[in-house]
Amino acid sequence: MSNRLNATPNDLSAFWMPFTANRQYKKEPRMFVKAKDMHYTTHDGRQVLDGTAGLWCVNAGHCRPLITEAIREQAGELDYAPAFQLGHPKAFELANRLIDIAPDGMEHVLYTNSGSESVETALKVALAYHKVKGQGSRTRLIGRERGYHGVNFGGISVGGIVSNRKMFGTLLTGVDHMPHTHLPEKNAFTKGEPEHGGDIASELERIVTLHDASTIAAVIVEPVAGSTGVLIPPKGYLQKLREICTKHGILLIFDEVITGYGRLGTPFAAQYFDVKPDMIVTAKGLTNGVIPMGAVFVTAEIHDAFMSGPEHMIEFFHGYTYSGNPIACAAALGTLDTYRDEGLLTRGAELASYWGDALHSLRDCPHVIDIRNIGLIGAIELAPIAGEPTKRAFSAFLKAYESGYLIRTTGDIIALSPPLIITKAEIDELIDGIRKVLQSNI
Ligand SMILES: Cc1ncc(COP(=O)(O)O)c(C=O)c1O
Repeated sequence: MSNRLNATPNDLSAFWMPFTANRQYKKEPRMFVKAKDMHYTTHDGRQVLDGTAGLWCVNAGHCRPLITEAIREQAGELDYAPAFQLGHPKAFELANRLIDIAPDGMEHVLYTNSGSESVETALKVALAYHKVKGQGSRTRLIGRERGYHGVNFGGISVGGIVSNRKMFGTLLTGVDHMPHTHLPEKNAFTKGEPEHGGDIASELERIVTLHDASTIAAVIVEPVAGSTGVLIPPKGYLQKLREICTKHGILLIFDEVITGYGRLGTPFAAQYFDVKPDMIVTAKGLTNGVIPMGAVFVTAEIHDAFMSGPEHMIEFFHGYTYSGNPIACAAALGTLDTYRDEGLLTRGAELASYWGDALHSLRDCPHVIDIRNIGLIGAIELAPIAGEPTKRAFSAFLKAYESGYLIRTTGDIIALSPPLIITKAEIDELIDGIRKVLQSNI
């Protein structure tokens, strides 16, 4: 500590930043100091149009009054209440409000503090559920190549992103992966759900045959994979996964950390695709990204299976100090009020086709090899610079930031997910900004 006492407040070295090229960043820092609605203000006083809702989370736009006010009030009234064996009214009120917007069949909610924790929670519920049902041999978890389920050990084990896995040893045992569904050679430049690849779901049958259903607890997938560059499920794919899971008594978990809370124009992707999972994992848009919080939805069948034994006994040995934190609950209630008052959970449906047309107008820009979109999500895939993967997209990100647009890149893919309050004029502005970046020397 002593050697930091003379550090200036703006010394950047102490903070080891997450998922960041730290050395590049600290040479050329990019800081946001304020935000309102669709815009950030940078440290050098520029306005940046938010094309990514922060990190896929600020669905209602920035610094929205109902959310800020709810947090302020709650902080002055009840700051913290122990989460175990005690409660506070807003945790129960929020759970009921969440069930109201959730797909039919989702009847109970467990709280967490992030998407990663929501994933771990759901995986643990799945294992424990089979155990309490007398099927303790069901311990295998099945994920998918190119899946992202956060950064904790369960999540990276079922996840399928090599860089997120390769440094961390053997991970969870007993995990297998389905193939991803990205078929650019057949589906490039598709609007909405691709035609080809629905049959890839039958690979799950092969995995079940290999391990035997009696060893498999759950399958976890993102209905639309975000972090690996927006992989939209081919027609019929999710329906087929549901059929196979049902046939073999395997739980189906949808990781809706990015698709939850209106991203596709329905409250949840499960409603958009009309597929009923057994659990839904959420975070991000639950509090508009303002306070860390996640929620896992489960069916009555799962919940009720635990509700036996002596009544004074804890039914599920899991939870966090901050599960259902009062300020987080207040933020979530303010967020749900904002979504309701402004119709934001379905606004994506009204804008989806305008958004899709605008995105696809970039088709003839240099380096573009694919464009895909669904709801208010879009991806522009660029041809990599030979021998220097990711560099072209990163250069596009830096140029976009300099010209006043926040985009996100993963590999050589630009991923877009603007706040659901975006106007058509702002869509045009964002897409024109990106066009200029693509036409520049990247
Ligand atoms: C599908 C999915 N699952 C889980 C996570 C992890 O969420 P968090 O960063 O809040 O832990 C993310 C984050 O982007 C995600 O996209």
